[in-house]
Amino acid sequence: MKSAVSQRAARVQPSPTLSITAKIKALQAEGRDILAFGAGEPDFDTPAHIKQAAKDALDQGFTKYTPSSGIEPLKKAVCEKLERENGLHYETKNIIVSVGGKHSLYNIFMAMIDPEDEVIIPSPYWVSYPEQVKLCDGVPVYVDMPESDDFKLKASSVEAALTSKTKALVLNSPSNPTGAVFDPEEIRKIAELAVKHDFWVISDEIYDRLTYGEKPLSIASLGPDIYERTLTVNGCSKSYSMTGWRIGYAAGPVEIVKAMGRLQDQSTSNPTSIAQKAAVAALTGPQDVVEEMRKAFQERRDVLVTGMNSLPGVRCPNPGGAFYVFPDVSGWYSGDIKGSDALAEVLLEKYGVGVTPGSGFGADNCIRMSYATSMEVIKGGLERLSRAANDLAK
Ligand SMILES: Cc1ncc(COP(=O)(O)O)c(C=O)c1O
Repeated sequence: MKSAVSQRAARVQPSPTLSITAKIKALQAEGRDILAFGAGEPDFDTPAHIKQAAKDALDQGFTKYTPSSGIEPLKKAVCEKLERENGLHYETKNIIVSVGGKHSLYNIFMAMIDPEDEVIIPSPYWVSYPEQVKLCDGVPVYVDMPESDDFKLKASSVEAALTSKTKALVLNSPSNPTGAVFDPEEIRKIAELAVKHDFWVISDEIYDRLTYGEKPLSIASLGPDIYERTLTVNGCSKSYSMTGWRIGYAAGPVEIVKAMGRLQDQSTSNPTSIAQKAAVAALTGPQDVVEEMRKAFQERRDVLVTGMNSLPGVRCPNPGGAFYVFPDVSGWYSGDIKGSDALAEVLLEKYGVGVTPGSGFGADNCIRMSYATSMEVIKGGLERLSRAANDLAK
């Protein structure tokens, strides 16, 4: 019998972050006492005025197709956001709204990558970048961001990975899974490299509002040459606690944005109409809601980083953004626990702590812990991990 599954689909790995979240939820549903650090989504409710905008849209019958690249008021709100917060000047023709930032990224790779084009992906990386590149028949090329550099990208590492086939570099600062915010000086050098060696930059800035020190630099703001070869990606999921609403967007030169629009025309059509209205309210409404969430994340980060660093066998850099820590826990590996998958399994089954193994992010010495959870869970989790450390640390 012919296989129903194409070679392309067979090549794609399941998302390890989604599968660990599903596993934790399943155990919790069985009544198991699990303290979960798995989820890549804020634990706050979507702010009330944003939900109200969706209810109003429903009541007004705003339930039909919209232009497939998004409604004009939302594109305008995106332009204002990018100007206000990132120093980026775009017009609505430079914007495409998609079904989440993940969809924006997929459309970028689909619109940009030809077979065998190389895409540089700094590692540890968010799990979807390499899979999406492979889906487009591109070749992921990894450059290392070691823990000894606090997981920050160095321009020299990018330069060393360049070949004649390099088509693009993915930048993600603040980063998932490490929370690292890259140094502005390195971003400047990377912009110079991109212009000199003629490659594109895909700057995933989805965590740009969630930082606890220096603000991240939007690479496209550094001058006209780099602006012309950058796609800036962002969305409402993380900043406004809107993960389920599925609104993301990309901004860049008209030619590529139009190509992405053609793909969207023929695949998904528009993102959900009422979610688009909610996104307008998020971007144009009061921004103090973001600040409240940011402050809560910062307090949690401080407790979690201090707590993790007090455990034997753990090294935990203090990340400048997002809502993840990415401790090196290889000091707990021995016997059957040979890597992060086995460790995550033991932490879940034996100690009731749900974490995401670092293997899926390209860093098997580490685990990812999301602090998008309550202080109670963080403190309880640290107590359980301290018991684990006593048992496991060499
Ligand atoms: C680095 C990064 N980029 C993009 C996304 C996509 O977010 P969404 O599709 O919800 O907008 C995520 C979500 O986890 C992420 O961590």
